[in-house]
Amino acid sequence: MGKVNQRPLLNRRLEGLGTTIFAEMSARAVATGSINLGQGFPDRDGPPEIARAAADAVLAGRGNQYPPGPGIPELRHAIAEHQHRFYDMAFDPDTEVLVTAGATEAVAATLLALVEPGDEVIAFEPYYDSYAANIAMAGGTRVPVTLRPPSFRPDLDELNRAITPRTRLILLNSPHNPTGSVFTRDELAAIAALATRNDLLVVTDEVYEHLVFDGEHVPIAQFPGMRERTVTISSAGKTFSFTGWKIGWVLATPELVSAVKTVKQFLTFVSGGPFQYAIAQALALPDSYYTALCEDLRAQRDLLTRGLAGIGFEVYPPQGTYFVTTDVRSLGERDGLEFCRTLPERAGVVAIPSSVFYDHQEAARTQVRFAFCKRQEVLTQALDRLKTFYSERSVVPASPPR
Ligand SMILES: Cc1ncc(COP(=O)(O)O)c(C=O)c1O
Repeated sequence: MGKVNQRPLLNRRLEGLGTTIFAEMSARAVATGSINLGQGFPDRDGPPEIARAAADAVLAGRGNQYPPGPGIPELRHAIAEHQHRFYDMAFDPDTEVLVTAGATEAVAATLLALVEPGDEVIAFEPYYDSYAANIAMAGGTRVPVTLRPPSFRPDLDELNRAITPRTRLILLNSPHNPTGSVFTRDELAAIAALATRNDLLVVTDEVYEHLVFDGEHVPIAQFPGMRERTVTISSAGKTFSFTGWKIGWVLATPELVSAVKTVKQFLTFVSGGPFQYAIAQALALPDSYYTALCEDLRAQRDLLTRGLAGIGFEVYPPQGTYFVTTDVRSLGERDGLEFCRTLPERAGVVAIPSSVFYDHQEAARTQVRFAFCKRQEVLTQALDRLKTFYSERSVVPASPPR
């Protein structure tokens, strides 16, 4: 085979990773006029005054040219202040905060910076799809530890057994996409103890930090010995309902931030200048903003989870995030992927098969994820469609709805 047709190593490493399911399902949603409860973005924009702040910044010429590499000082200060206000943690805005093109770039730059070829990275599956791809890009090996229904708790013995001399870091995500699981203080303390005992780094993706309905969000960087070995990643997308702006950040020691910045400068260099000004303002919104965001989403979660359970889905209620995982076995369905591929035609609703987020796809063969970050009338309409479809099929659930 000539060089022209040779598939580069990286390309082969990425084969089959990530997921094309979102594009496929969005296309099916459009083609069939379905309600799209697949991808996780809200169908209402964030606060109008923050949208105005971004527009004002553009018109006033703030951020229209390359902003500073680490992010504008106003935003770095606002991020540090946010961490202090909500978690009583101190970060130096000049050396310990880095602004990125969303959490997506933060995860990519962090893994490329910290993982060497041959290193093992432990992550809880199901995982957000960029993790596997980023580990592969860095030449690392991913080591999955599976979260299992109904509660999707981390199995700490399994985590302990997964650690080897080649383990470089543990990649955490709490609140967790797609299961909605929120790791408890005790679970995080145990993970932190394992990390310190084995001298591991922890990279923690906390983009849903403000979307917790039951329990509390606890940053793992707070635990003893963790401040110096943790890279904390978050983003404005979910907290302010502006997922298209792609403003994210990294918080860590100056050494770790500097390592991540070294990579980041060759990925995007900088991004989102005017949006950085707007997010600096957004982070300072009063507590009432954060509370209302969470209350609205809680109501949306309750509406969708109760409705799905009433139809006969087995529902695993999430403690946080935008998502609920269900099992469709109780509806007589045998394969989540097939279910999701045919649901738009059959019922006019789009969902995502959870198996695409797993290495061990069998573990989730009949699991299906629905997003509830949509207006209540949209969720009600989706539930009506599903109800009509299943009542016409008059399915007798295999197990009682919960
Ligand atoms: C767990 C997780 N991490 C990261 C991201 C990406 O965040 P951003 O849009 O800020 O890049 C998402 C978005 O869905 C996510 O669910």
